[in-house]
Amino acid sequence: MHHVPAIEVASDRLSRTPNDDLAHLPGPRGHWYFGNVRELLPDPTPFLTEMRAAHGDCFTVGMLRNRRVIVLAGAAANRLVLLDADSNFSSRLGWEATLDFLSGFVLLRDFEDHAFHRDLLRPFFKADALRRDLVSMNRVIRREVNGLAGTSDGYRLAKRLALDIALAVFAGFSLPRRNETMHSDTERMLDGVLARRSMLPGSRYRRALRARNRLRGAFLAEVPRRRDADGVDLFGRLSRFTDSSGRRLGDQDVVHHVFGMIFAAHETTASAMSLMMHSLARHPEWQARLRAEVVARCPDETPTLEELSDMPVAEAVFRETLRLYSPIQFLPRRNVRPFDWCGHRIPANSHVLLPPQLCHRDASRFEDPDSFRPDRFFAGSARQHVDPFAWVPFGRGSHMCMGTHFALLEVKAFFVHLLRLFDLKQTMTDAPAVQHLPLLRPKGRLPMTFVRRHS
Ligand code: HEM
Repeated sequence: MHHVPAIEVASDRLSRTPNDDLAHLPGPRGHWYFGNVRELLPDPTPFLTEMRAAHGDCFTVGMLRNRRVIVLAGAAANRLVLLDADSNFSSRLGWEATLDFLSGFVLLRDFEDHAFHRDLLRPFFKADALRRDLVSMNRVIRREVNGLAGTSDGYRLAKRLALDIALAVFAGFSLPRRNETMHSDTERMLDGVLARRSMLPGSRYRRALRARNRLRGAFLAEVPRRRDADGVDLFGRLSRFTDSSGRRLGDQDVVHHVFGMIFAAHETTASAMSLMMHSLARHPEWQARLRAEVVARCPDETPTLEELSDMPVAEAVFRETLRLYSPIQFLPRRNVRPFDWCGHRIPANSHVLLPPQLCHRDASRFEDPDSFRPDRFFAGSARQHVDPFAWVPFGRGSHMCMGTHFALLEVKAFFVHLLRLFDLKQTMTDAPAVQHLPLLRPKGRLPMTFVRRHS
């Protein structure tokens, strides 16, 4: 049988090495080798905010070997690049340096090729699919939440949940017991994202690549079986997909999508879910408001899609958590053609970064930006006046996160189960230690105390 052919796009013709000839743009000089990595790594926002104040909304910073990348700050730049009305900004070339593990995933596709594959995935995020996914979500969440007692690591809990849900929903793995190999291999993969691309024995990158190959091998071996079965999950449906000419997706493409989706769905959601737990423990008044909403809108212990769709407090708390702790700290692109911005000529094939948090922490956009104030996201509040391109934890435009509603549903379902049974108490008095790159997430453990409620 023939396979759906690869679609050629304009970014295929660009050199793999980005343009580094950016001396005409303002920006700090940086260390001759480390560039500005040492300033960016602990928390990029303070340094970038300082650079924005000094150089304006378009400046360069240095990465390793002091290779220059362009930072575009502000909602107008987000709009230009993310909407990408002229098909000028390649997501594949932007992301592939860090996500080389996920080649073939929809985020690493451009223009016509991207549109074809995004359309293929779209049905998995419609209401019917979400209703089906919620059954798996409720089952996994109930199992984990019922087993909670005393003090546990909130981040580990969220990771287990998010990965088990992604495996069940996208790959159709409803495991009676958790598959620990899959958990540790995905963890190893993430660990390799920022590692030096060294294949020396014992290197983090080599370990990550081997974990990726093991996982990919296990998924590839499954494709023929899925093709003959009638599974309605992403894996089953993509394995059986044929286009109007009767051509099917290659096995590699099927696995790229399933694999990429599991990765995209679980790390980001786990980070947001655990930091929302932390925020609610730190702000008992918001925890009480959310519990009141849970009790009022979800009378049964297994919430339905309709009940979860009407939870404004949960949504406001989630949005505010993402504003403060956006899991993805940079949206990277490379431009196919030159363009002009802020009075500067940006040459073709430059590496461009959009940092969401430069808007999220901008006092002219969000009053008192470092404080946790979910009320700013209630309908009728200032939210109405916030430019949609100033709140971009899910990106916007052509590559906007396909899992936005899925993530929100999962997080709401989790807090419905959790807050009915437990009070969340803070174990740490300080803000949690977070690592910002490659993904913002708690650093190490995030201890939380779960106190069982007596009804
Ligand atoms: C809180 C949780 C999540 C956050 C913060 C998040 C964030 C993002 C961001 C910022 C992008 C766009 C990147 C860019 O434009 O460069 C993205 C893309 C994507 N996300 Fe999410 N995500 C989350 C959860 C999920 C979930 C649960 C799924 C799947 C169920 C998912 C699937 C995807 C996919 C498929 C893309 C690529 C879309 C495309 O290229 O067309 N994400 N996500």
